[in-house]
This record gives sequence, structure tokens and C-alpha cells, in this order.
Amino acid sequence: MRVAASIRAADVNVLVARMQDDIAGFAIMRYGDDDAHLDLLAVAPRYRRAGVGRQLLAWLEKCAVVAGIFSIGLEVRAGNDGAQLFYQRMGYRTTDQLPGYYQGIEAALRMSRDLSCRPSDPRIRGVQY
Ligand SMILES: CC(C)(COP(=O)(O)OP(=O)(O)OC[C@H]1O[C@@H](n2cnc3c(N)ncnc32)[C@H](O)[C@@H]1OP(=O)(O)O)[C@@H](O)C(=O)NCCC(=O)NCCS
Repeated sequence: MRVAASIRAADVNVLVARMQDDIAGFAIMRYGDDDAHLDLLAVAPRYRRAGVGRQLLAWLEKCAVVAGIFSIGLEVRAGNDGAQLFYQRMGYRTTDQLPGYYQGIEAALRMSRDLSCRPSDPRIRGVQY
């Protein structure tokens, strides 16, 4: 199972956000030598738009910076407008269009953030310096 393998992997952080006894959100980031990849990020519907996703991503970005990694990449479904707006707000920019990325059918956007640059837009709410 992908999540179990991620928990065991030395180069992966698996992060859970809890609200009392509920799991509110979940994120997996894989760290390479020069860059990191966000494998998964999801917030339970009832906890969305409350800053959970932002805090999960910011925590994982801080780990990357501490490890000397300043580039984060991810893929998001081309039709997932909400997630794209979320990532844009976190300072991510679209770098590629990937037709057929999901099961050869659905397109993805590749997005990335350069953590070595202080965001020029004060509304960016990912990792701060
Ligand atoms: C994308 C997702 C992780 C965002 O998590 P979240 O906890 O709701 O996000 P936050 O509350 O931290 O949002 C921070 C900011 O991002 C933006 N944002 C988040 N979701 C948004 C949406 N659906 N539409 C527009 N902007 C959005 C807003 O600017 C928001 O700030 P605001 O609420 O003060 O306006 C969540 O919607 C989710 O789990 N979606 C389903 C799974 C998914 O698509 N995962 C990503 C796959 S790559």
C-alpha cells in the first residue's frame, strides 16, 4: 500500500492533522537531494477553508528548507480548480501541462515553488521567512 510504504521510507514525511479525534487532513512529501515532491495533500471536506491545508504544506516546506531543499514540485488535476487556486495562494506556479497524466485520460498541471525566493506577494501564505 502506497501510504504504508511512504511511512516506512526514510526520505518521505507523512503528516496528519488532527482535530480532537478526527483526522482533518493528510499530506505526504518525498525529499530528494535537490528538490522535494508533494505526493498527496487532502483535507476532509468538513475542515476545508480553515487553514489546515496551508499549515500542512507550510510544515512540509519548512522541513525541506531545513534539509537545504528549496524546490517543491507537485501535479494537480487540470480540472481541480480549487486545488490550483490553493497552490497559487501558497506561492506555486504552473510550469507544465501534462496531457493524459492520470490513467492516460485526465490532464494534469505541474506546479512548483522556489523556496529560496521570498514571495513578492504578501498574500502568499505558505512557508514564511
Ligand atoms: C486543496 C485543499 C488541500 C485545500 O485545503 P484547505 O485546508 O481547504 O485550504 P486552506 O484553508 O489552508 O486554504 C488556504 C487558502 O487557499 C485558497 N483556497 C483553498 N481552497 C480553495 C478553493 N476551493 N477555492 C479557491 N481558493 C481556495 C484560499 O485563498 C484559502 O484562504 P482563505 O480560505 O482565507 O480564502 C482541499 O481543498 C482538499 O483537500 N481538496 C481535495 C483534495 C485535493 O484536491 N488535493 C490536492 C490534490 S493535488
